[in-house]
Amino acid sequence: MKNLLITGGAGFIGSNFVHHILETHPDYQVVVFDKLTYAGNLDNLKDVTRDPRYTFVQGDICDAEAVEQVMREHQIDTIVNFAADTHVDRSLMEPGTFIQTDVYGTYVLLEAAKKFGVERYHQISTDEVYGEVMEGRSSEEDRLHTRSPYSASKAGGDLMCLAYFTSFGVPVTITRGSNNIGPYQYPEKVVPLFITNAIDDIPLPLYGDGTQMRDYQYVRDHCEGIDAVLHQGQPGEIYNLGTGVETRNIDMARLILKLLGKPESLIQPITDRPGHDRRYALDCRKIQSLGWRSRHSFEEALEKTVRWYVDNQWWWRKIKSGAHYEEYYERQYAGREID
Ligand code: NAD
Ligand code: TYD
Repeated sequence: MKNLLITGGAGFIGSNFVHHILETHPDYQVVVFDKLTYAGNLDNLKDVTRDPRYTFVQGDICDAEAVEQVMREHQIDTIVNFAADTHVDRSLMEPGTFIQTDVYGTYVLLEAAKKFGVERYHQISTDEVYGEVMEGRSSEEDRLHTRSPYSASKAGGDLMCLAYFTSFGVPVTITRGSNNIGPYQYPEKVVPLFITNAIDDIPLPLYGDGTQMRDYQYVRDHCEGIDAVLHQGQPGEIYNLGTGVETRNIDMARLILKLLGKPESLIQPITDRPGHDRRYALDCRKIQSLGWRSRHSFEEALEKTVRWYVDNQWWWRKIKSGAHYEEYYERQYAGREID
């Protein structure tokens, strides 16, 4: 394993993973293959652009010819697939693009993995494929119970990976991660949205009663977990990847305001997301048996994240002042306030 194709590497987790790999594996070459959708951003990779071990190729994972060309040109032996449409709320507005990228795009990459005989194909998946779990924790064998077009598309991608393992012997592994937080997260996801709104004294749009729970993990912990599975995981296996600790959205919002010295009156309840999953919770014993542990508690992760957005306003102000973001915000939030 030395020539890695990192698809979706200009997005949030993918770009953190590129940093992680270049910092920890001096002998690896990294090729980022990314379509640069609204969520892809070369600013996320500006620290590594001069690194001779890093190459950027703009391309679509649904374009088999472009994928084969990059595989051939860079003698790729490992694919790590982060490329996806990723936001649940957008999947409610336009499910078709999610099916295209997250299912069809995964199929195109798997075909390339088969054709070029890669050492490993690693799929980045999500705890959302298990659906909401009101009690207990999801283990890797649990049935999938998806409820949003996003999670259904991700589950489709996972199942295709397992099919390519069983049918064609492609050495796939899958990690199902919980919610990530940290640097370079597009501010449509709740944590960077709330932090950047709070900095500007804009209300924090909290869905429903705010008692929904998520396992918020620091993105670099997630990257270390992916690395552990890439190097020590067994082909054909799925690994849950989270802290195993859940936090209510209302408590996350309050802590952000506390860290920024802002009043709780900034929290604005709004009508709930349709089909909003109340709780995700992972059983992570399988990945822990590889020696991986999450390094940050929720509080430490959130504090580091808040500090990054305070210190890197150049990064998110450019995004939030753009026409695409403003249109999205209006479409998503206008008129949803609850008294
Ligand atoms: P993101 O939306 O920040 O980035 C997605 C990246 O994929 C962008 O750079 C985008 O340009 C690229 N992309 C989209 N469609 C593409 C295509 N057709 N071809 C090539 N590139 C394309 O997403 P993220 O939050 O970094 O998530 C990365 C992966 O991790 C996704 O597969 C997601 O499902 C999974 N995941 C995310 C979280 C989370 O909390 N963010 C948690 C668990 C799993
Ligand atoms: P999100 O960041 O969209 O991730 P996901 O839905 O994939 O877990 O949302 C995290 C939680 O925050 C989820 O319970 C929905 C909630 N939420 C809000 O309360 N307000 C918002 O504006 C957003 C985007 C999310």
